[in-house]
Amino acid sequence: MCGITGCVSTQDCVPLMIESLGRLAYRGYDSAGVAVCDAGGIKLRREHGKLENLMALLARQPLSGRTGIGHTRWATHGRPSESNAHPQTYKKIAIVHNGIIENFMPLRAELEAGGHVFSSETDTEIVAHLISDAYETCADFSKAVRIALARVRGSYAIVAICADCPDELVAARLQSPLLVGLGNNMNFATSDISAVLPYTRRFIFLEDGDFVRMTHDAVSLFDAQGKIITREAKTIEWDIRAAEKQGYPHYMLKEIFEQPAKITDTFRGRILSESAEVNLDAPVNALELENVSRIQIVACGTSYHAGLLGKYMIEKMARLPVDVDVASEYRYRDPILKPDDGFIAISQSGETADTYACVKMARAAGAKILAICNVMDSSIARASDAAFYTRADPEIGVASTKAFTTQVASLALLAIHLGRKRNFLDAERARTCLEALRRVPSEMEVMLEQSDDVRKTAQKLLRANSFLYLGRNVHYPIALEGALKLKEITYIHAEAYPSGEMKHGPIALIDDRLPVIVIAPKNSTYEKTLSNLQEVRARGGRIISIVSEGDEDLSKLSEAYFTIPNCDEFVQPLYSVIYLQLLAYHIADLLGHDVDHPRNLAKSVTVE
Ligand code: F6R
Repeated sequence: MCGITGCVSTQDCVPLMIESLGRLAYRGYDSAGVAVCDAGGIKLRREHGKLENLMALLARQPLSGRTGIGHTRWATHGRPSESNAHPQTYKKIAIVHNGIIENFMPLRAELEAGGHVFSSETDTEIVAHLISDAYETCADFSKAVRIALARVRGSYAIVAICADCPDELVAARLQSPLLVGLGNNMNFATSDISAVLPYTRRFIFLEDGDFVRMTHDAVSLFDAQGKIITREAKTIEWDIRAAEKQGYPHYMLKEIFEQPAKITDTFRGRILSESAEVNLDAPVNALELENVSRIQIVACGTSYHAGLLGKYMIEKMARLPVDVDVASEYRYRDPILKPDDGFIAISQSGETADTYACVKMARAAGAKILAICNVMDSSIARASDAAFYTRADPEIGVASTKAFTTQVASLALLAIHLGRKRNFLDAERARTCLEALRRVPSEMEVMLEQSDDVRKTAQKLLRANSFLYLGRNVHYPIALEGALKLKEITYIHAEAYPSGEMKHGPIALIDDRLPVIVIAPKNSTYEKTLSNLQEVRARGGRIISIVSEGDEDLSKLSEAYFTIPNCDEFVQPLYSVIYLQLLAYHIADLLGHDVDHPRNLAKSVTVE
């Protein structure tokens, strides 16, 4: 979704802002722009389409200034176009905005009735008008922003500049992420840590209702009444190289290959081999989720698929009932949640609007809330009682890969921990499970070497216009995840079904043009899946399978097959998903798609 960067410095900030817009591009966008304050007032450059278009415009019409704001826009109100791009300006004010102004129609009608003329279709522009009106009355820029935002309903992260205050940025947040970066003779307002990570590691995470006024050497925070507040600055440990491609053609491929290292990081210090225990972080231990009567997991997209695996693992190892819901459904279906329930929100970004809303519902219900997040101190992490961090480092590819496997690895640790605490998992079984988990990174490295073979198979599938993914038990969520990856980046239709559901409908789809991707390593349901596949084969279906090493029966039925190590059923998903990520990646790349920026998609869905 949209990305914000703002900088106030002692030097020209335009090159820095363009660089940081490049770091925001991964979020998904359809136009971009920058505005600066200089002696002549507000100067604006915006372009529809890729950032390169904006850079070409800046080459023709250069811009410089010590204070500026920049934006990558993912259209919500108003089609993608230059006039709808941000910054939006009115008189002496320019603003960038993430979020949605819900009452923009009546506000716009009111402003138009008062003689205001609008130059865009955006909800954002009304905020520039409101700030401008307030500023004309009070002549105090930061106060004008407060007065204007008091009239607005919805969600926003806003950064504003004013022609009369050329050394000042004013920013505010409500239900949309915004951070203050504290640099050396420069300060930043940004929606995303990685946008300004080369310039600072010290950040203040703004809370809902916070306002901030900053110059190059001072930052002051205040609330909606203008009362000064304080927020602690935090140091971010992320390795800046994690946000670079490091020689890979795409972030997604780099992130697929990073998975062994990131799973190792996620395990570090958390597996106690001697005692066969899991050492969750102290705040997570303190939650005592082992004492709740049931667990509700809520998430979206790929994180939801991790949640489905969480249900299998927690129910099996800890005999604790688990329900899993898509956040956008959960929040509107009047769910039953009690104070003795546990609630787990899974979110890579920690900013997904629907998941965040569900966390607030869980808070109101008095449940114990655990966040499984990748981004430290993100909104969901902070709104929860405790956060378990997945340590995947920044995930830039829009299609989630390493975030998923580190979420699954985290849920496996949690399941073992709960199993031990609830006395359903004896030390020997726990030790075996932990050992199986420990082996994952090195075994995964070996599997990744087969990327070229996956590409050869991908080459043969380029003409297919639909795929069916089948899996059973722990592999059903993996089938869902494989189908989602394919849809997202290849734009080819794919559907996932539990293998046992074949006869209840999907078998009618089978013909010699439909690739059927089957995830069927040796486990408790292997024999049943094998029978389902005989039925596919008998109808001429094309089978591409993921099997256990040495499985000749299934490999004989398959046009192509890939093997995973013989291992305990509960770690199999961590292996099988790798081939599905690679398959989607190679098909998309061979079709010439922009793998890291799939059409219409945004990395972090911060609006409903
Ligand atoms: C798919 C993907 C999305 C996200 C979903 C939730 O590859 O990335 O489906 O998983 O938007 O995002 P988070 O985990 O940030 O809440």
